[in-house]
Amino acid sequence: MTTAELLVNPLREGLSANRVPAPCSLVIYGASGDLTSRKLVPALFNLYRKHLLPTSFSLIGVSRSPISDDQFKQRLKEMLKQEDPELTDSLWNSFSQNFHYLAGAYDDPKAYQSLSILLDQKDQNNGTAGNRVFYLSTPPNVFEDIISNLGTSGLAKEAKGYSRIVIEKPFGHDLDSAKELNQKVQEVFKEHQIYRIDHYLGKETVQNLLVMRFANSIFEPIWNRENVDHVQITAAEELGVGSRAGYYESSGVLRDMFQNHLFQVMCMVGMEPPVAFEANAIRDEKLKILQSIRPFTPETVSQFAVRGQYGPGFLAGQKVPGYREEKDVKPQSTTPTYAALKVFLDTWRWHGVPFLLRSAKRLPKRSTEVAIQFKEPPNLLFKDNVSHLSPNVLVIRIQPDEGMTLKFETKVPGMTTEARTVNMDFRYGTSFAEDAPEAYERLLLDCMLGDATLFIRGDEAEAAWKALMPVITHWETTQPETSFPNYEAGSWGPAEADKLLEKPWRQWRRL
Ligand code: NDP
Ligand code: BG6
Repeated sequence: MTTAELLVNPLREGLSANRVPAPCSLVIYGASGDLTSRKLVPALFNLYRKHLLPTSFSLIGVSRSPISDDQFKQRLKEMLKQEDPELTDSLWNSFSQNFHYLAGAYDDPKAYQSLSILLDQKDQNNGTAGNRVFYLSTPPNVFEDIISNLGTSGLAKEAKGYSRIVIEKPFGHDLDSAKELNQKVQEVFKEHQIYRIDHYLGKETVQNLLVMRFANSIFEPIWNRENVDHVQITAAEELGVGSRAGYYESSGVLRDMFQNHLFQVMCMVGMEPPVAFEANAIRDEKLKILQSIRPFTPETVSQFAVRGQYGPGFLAGQKVPGYREEKDVKPQSTTPTYAALKVFLDTWRWHGVPFLLRSAKRLPKRSTEVAIQFKEPPNLLFKDNVSHLSPNVLVIRIQPDEGMTLKFETKVPGMTTEARTVNMDFRYGTSFAEDAPEAYERLLLDCMLGDATLFIRGDEAEAAWKALMPVITHWETTQPETSFPNYEAGSWGPAEADKLLEKPWRQWRRL
């Protein structure tokens, strides 16, 4: 392996502190699956290239598929090569030298004994120091089996080193199952050992919401009901349900995107300054936001929430099927693939300010952003000369084209007093000369470092479910107000969503 194969960017020198974790073993359950090969291993590889993996590190993949170490590694290598055709054998070999695979059923105690022996061997022969991260990357129906077997086999104990568990989303299917899962995991692991993942919190731009708000003095004085007309948070996806209907049919967009990603982003926008930049201080403030969501009731759902499902349409000139035509979707499915919610946070700061949240599959483009729309100036001084003033908007682009734009009015050069909206732009790519790291890189690194700031605490997960359950229950027990499908793939969603805007000067942003 040459130094050139490892990533060094002199332009970024000094930008990130070298946070190399202590030696450890990472055990991935569900290692034969999509997430492991498409996200987790590429993220580990990037950490390796940035010298951010522990010097003594082993990866143990566990799942039921009867494959050998070599087959496991070959599959990962092929996946990585698709992302990075330049990947050389020497780099791959040095990265994967301590990768292993164990086949076994998730409820078989013997599989945990074999794992325990292998982990001890790694500690002795490879210096992994008794530190273990267990990553649950299986479908959620086997989470409880794995957790209880980690408990009975003694692997959850922090005997020689640390023992941590990472739990993938979805964290429960509803409030009751989330409470049950919290209880099960807390019977075996202490809260400081538990890392509930929401990959949106690993996105650089989501983290930047805190830095932007609390490392500058210009934003906070205007970040409130006196100055903000409303907030829009959008997560638009071009992709359809793809091959995931098995999961999505029982999930729908509210469970898939709102309970976690959109609510977490809303917390970052709405929370009060925490007393410290530390996991529990930040999570305390996020929890207050989730608890402040004005409760939805069966009577108010139709006033505050709009659902939709995509029909056939066109995306980038290609004909695409409707949701009901996708593989494994019921022909009369009423699973929502679009939702828009008007959320009020009953706090001093945000009283009366609507947070308009929307997310959907098969919209015209992939784009996630937060837009803070400010109120009009109190006195329109130029009303005789200027026919139209647009509101000031601060747009925080989470992805793609990560950055921020402030839209404001300026005088058009000339002898008359005309105003026009212009943009002041910040782009990550331009300012830092490098793409932001993938969310899973940051989250895996933080977990190995024992930093839970970007992970969700059990009470947050429950508060988010509690707020959303009335809408989920109402939608699951009543027919849609307009028959599904009610938006074409490649459009911006059902027209009914406009009713959430209420005021003539509010419009859903076209991204
Ligand atoms: P997969 O469906 O690919 O499952 C992972 C592995 O789990 C499979 O390879 C399989 O391994 C095992 N498995 C599958 N179904 C069952 C079952 N019914 N009972 C027991 N074991 C089963 O999942 P992903 O890798 O896509 O996702 C893993 C986790 O990550 C899930 O919780 C998912 O919700 C979450 N997630 C995934 C994302 C993604 O992009 N893929 C994004 C965000 C979250 P074997 O048969 O060998 O045991
Ligand atoms: C996942 C959802 O959590 O997030 C998917 O299960 C969705 O349905 C994905 O496509 C979106 O993530 P990202 O990072 O592409 O915005």
